[in-house]
Amino acid sequence: MKQTLPQELHRSLTADVPFISPKFFYDDIGSHLFDVITLLEEYYPTRTEQWIMDANRAAIAKAVGDCDVLLDLGAGNCAKASQLFNSIKPKQYRALDISKEYLEAAVADLQKQFPYIAMRAEAIDLSLPLAFPDIAERRKIFFFPGSSIGNYDPEKADQFFANLAQECHGNGGLLIGVDLVKDHETLNLAYNDPLGVTAAFNLNILLNVNRITGSHFNLHDWEHYAFFNESQSRIEMHLRARSDVTVSLPGDGTKERAIAFKAGDLIHTENSYKYTEDGFTEKLRRAGFGNLQTWTDPKKHFLVCFANANK
Ligand code: AVI
Repeated sequence: MKQTLPQELHRSLTADVPFISPKFFYDDIGSHLFDVITLLEEYYPTRTEQWIMDANRAAIAKAVGDCDVLLDLGAGNCAKASQLFNSIKPKQYRALDISKEYLEAAVADLQKQFPYIAMRAEAIDLSLPLAFPDIAERRKIFFFPGSSIGNYDPEKADQFFANLAQECHGNGGLLIGVDLVKDHETLNLAYNDPLGVTAAFNLNILLNVNRITGSHFNLHDWEHYAFFNESQSRIEMHLRARSDVTVSLPGDGTKERAIAFKAGDLIHTENSYKYTEDGFTEKLRRAGFGNLQTWTDPKKHFLVCFANANK
């Protein structure tokens, strides 16, 4: 049975290991904070991916080939996809993301700049299976940049890739950017920037949870905590209780309850997996993609990959 967002949050916050799905980061403030994160010196993924894309624009367009529909998964402000329009020349552009208002504004803006591309904004939860029956016959290119795949647990990423490979119907493919394993200092700094933007991004999730569930999280009671977990090859982000704190959580079909946290208790908000090139390309092959082409930066911090659905 499909659960509502308040029900989902109720369940995850009262689980043995409390967590909040990272999809709840992206309310209006969170989406803007994330845009600021991508401008930070310490947050290398965005500018490194940009460098790779710029340095290899023609080769990437050649690998991608004809594009009937460019499906931008987690489009955000649509800036990355729009940079592909001149080289890939999609006939149609579909921007998919969780935050509808933000997305619609971005697509409306873009439509003015590219009136000859048919555009559509769709609010979609990327953690659920995807289906595009109305464009089954069209050659689709899925675009999933920014290492958003790193926010999926590895098994979930496998399912997601298998879903995309199937939706390609033996044609088209996936253009994807992924963050690579590297020295821990660089990794830790990217998620602990001295300006505190990532901390604000993490804390803001509680404001969104308050809005959705009617709970009373007080931001002063919580602090940002992020570190690289080497054995899992992932950055973990948590919110840590600064002192003993009780938070009321109104019921949504379930009973109203108060959740007690002890000082130091954690709410897990995000994993950001870091891959090796071989590990990642193997994952794509297992899911049904083939004919892979990859591009990276001189420090091998980030990887861009085009995976063909027709092996
Ligand atoms: C969106 N995603 C790829 C970002 C990441 O690096 O995992 C989200 C983020 N979390 C903290 N900083 C950025």
